[in-house]
Amino acid sequence: MPLVNSKEMFKKAYEGGYAIGAFNVNNMEIVQGITEAAKENNAPVILQVSAGARKYAKHVYLTKLVEAAIADTDLPIVLHLDHGADFEICKSCIDGGFTSVMIDGSHHAFEDNIALTKKVVDYAHERGVTVEGELGQLAGIEDDVNVSAENAHFTDPAQVEEFVTRTGVDSLAIAIGTSHGAYKFKPGQKPELRFDILEEVSKRLPGFPIVLHGASSVTQSDVQIINQFGGKMPDAIGIPEEMLRKAASMAVCKINIDSDLRLALTASLRQYMFEHPDHFDPRQYLSPARDHIKELVAHKLINVLGCAGKA
Ligand code: G3H
Ligand code: 13P
Ligand code: ZN
Repeated sequence: MPLVNSKEMFKKAYEGGYAIGAFNVNNMEIVQGITEAAKENNAPVILQVSAGARKYAKHVYLTKLVEAAIADTDLPIVLHLDHGADFEICKSCIDGGFTSVMIDGSHHAFEDNIALTKKVVDYAHERGVTVEGELGQLAGIEDDVNVSAENAHFTDPAQVEEFVTRTGVDSLAIAIGTSHGAYKFKPGQKPELRFDILEEVSKRLPGFPIVLHGASSVTQSDVQIINQFGGKMPDAIGIPEEMLRKAASMAVCKINIDSDLRLALTASLRQYMFEHPDHFDPRQYLSPARDHIKELVAHKLINVLGCAGKA
């Protein structure tokens, strides 16, 4: 099976009331952990690459790893650019074999976001590549951009229809209270999402796929392991899984998860290093880390996204 774009995947997800997991990849163990879980659970999956991941691992290594995952699993897999900042990076990924790109114009003025997004859509659609846009702004850190809670703002449903119609985007990331990173809510703060905004958006655009960024739940057992074995993470609070399940049953077709993978990998490495201070073979400490990622992803596919068995 070749790489696919997100069109058919999102159509089925919308109709079936589930979401596709979009997991960030940076190296071989992460690609394998995710796709082995997807294979065992017969789930479609999106592997996404940020500008930082491209800088770290190089475009060609990541595309070849994803090609290898396809050969190994024969699953429908989308290779997606996460948070494309400008036309050039989107073009480079489209020309370099990606089947989906995000153009993140969310920090631009409305008209500028429309113009930039449309330019990417025109280039991508001619080449069979799907495009995700963004309206509204999440708090948290992505690449080198740190958006403070005060500067974050919810998506205005009144703007969504015009944005989608004028740009022709295939899916849209909206801001309803999720945020990037491990510190989404302050200690003591009750996690809340603006489901009223999601509902209003889907009323205005029935059948249109919505994307949720910043959707890690910040697995508490991993935070505890990290701190038990020498880490120093302050209280970290993520998005409760029942909220993600609810979003997946609504118009949300793609749920982005990165921080949970990072925590799983870090927890596993810290524990292994502590328990085996004399080991120095990377295969020894990276194997349990890969297994832990696989276990985490399987849990998300089955219990959170609802996409197990949908490949
Ligand atoms: O939203 C951002 C993703 O978690 C990717 O993070 O830009 O540090 O690779 P990164
Ligand atoms: P998390 O930081 O919540 O995992 O979000 C990841 C993300 O949105 C990638 O685009
Ligand atoms: Zn994101």
